[in-house]
Amino acid sequence: MNATALAPAKVILIGEHFVVYGEPAVVMAIDCYVHVTVSERADNFIHIVSDLGMSGFYSKTGYKPEKGGVQAEKIVRPVNIAAQTVLDRLEKKTGLEIKVGSQIPVAAGLGSSGALAVATVAAVGKLLGTDFSKDELVKLSFEAEKFVHSRPSGIDQTISSNGGVIVYQKGKGLDPIKVKSEIPIVIGNTGIPRKTGDLVNAVRRRLNDLPEIIEPIVHAAGPLSTLAIKALLYGNLKRLGELMDINHGLLSAIGVSNEPLDRLVYAAKKAGALGAKLTGAGGGGCMIALSTLEDREKIADSIRRAGGTTIIAKKTNTGVQVWVNE
Ligand code: MEV
Repeated sequence: MNATALAPAKVILIGEHFVVYGEPAVVMAIDCYVHVTVSERADNFIHIVSDLGMSGFYSKTGYKPEKGGVQAEKIVRPVNIAAQTVLDRLEKKTGLEIKVGSQIPVAAGLGSSGALAVATVAAVGKLLGTDFSKDELVKLSFEAEKFVHSRPSGIDQTISSNGGVIVYQKGKGLDPIKVKSEIPIVIGNTGIPRKTGDLVNAVRRRLNDLPEIIEPIVHAAGPLSTLAIKALLYGNLKRLGELMDINHGLLSAIGVSNEPLDRLVYAAKKAGALGAKLTGAGGGGCMIALSTLEDREKIADSIRRAGGTTIIAKKTNTGVQVWVNE
């Protein structure tokens, strides 16, 4: 017997970076997934095989690489942490065979590590006879996320566990909103790696250097999110797109866009996107274009011609799904 879990990625629709300074951000789960399949082993090893071409064994004495060398350990360790957290929580001792596959590009701002942690916790729990509640999934996957992002807000695990659309504001927490309409998007990946922490620090430097200019920009992001939430609730995609365009302008002003991202944003707009902006930390990684369902291929094609790789996606209201395969 084995158990499989499928956990969705996310995009930030509006409000990244400004969220660090207390403004609300809007995050949406998309139909692009990490899947984890787990079975028990007769020995005490946790054997992890990733479709990124790495695998290895964890035991009490540490990590023994099989494929990808010791440096690959960094990639599979969150899976081991998540599995171990579940074994401890359920007070079980067993070896595990864990297979990981993903459609979500890594380190591109799409929440791949959060989804991986949630899927691992859900699959290991199910295999051992426990269906964790959404809250428990979020809590138990936190340890693995802490290893990847030293100070995670918890939003990636929350959106991946619950699906749908969530508003996040520092100090106020997470507030799911009911969005009835389809939200079709095209993701364009620049393929340029970047570190979220470096970009957050660069924004803080600019804010300290030019507070008269940057502070009003940060505070303009508050009403922008409020109006975006309204547009989502009313299904007004034209207005949402307009607000996303403005959001991209504000993100450029605080210094986190660059030429490759702008190129993909303008390619999407030229092909008829309702709005387009970088998503996540910027400096590389991904942009998103809001589209109608019909226009997504055309927009994706334009983004690819401008040098990006693409994912055609839409909102999913379903969070992590888990089942047993007999
Ligand atoms: C990164 O995905 C989002 C940022 O706002 C950082 C954060 O909120 O921790 C740039």
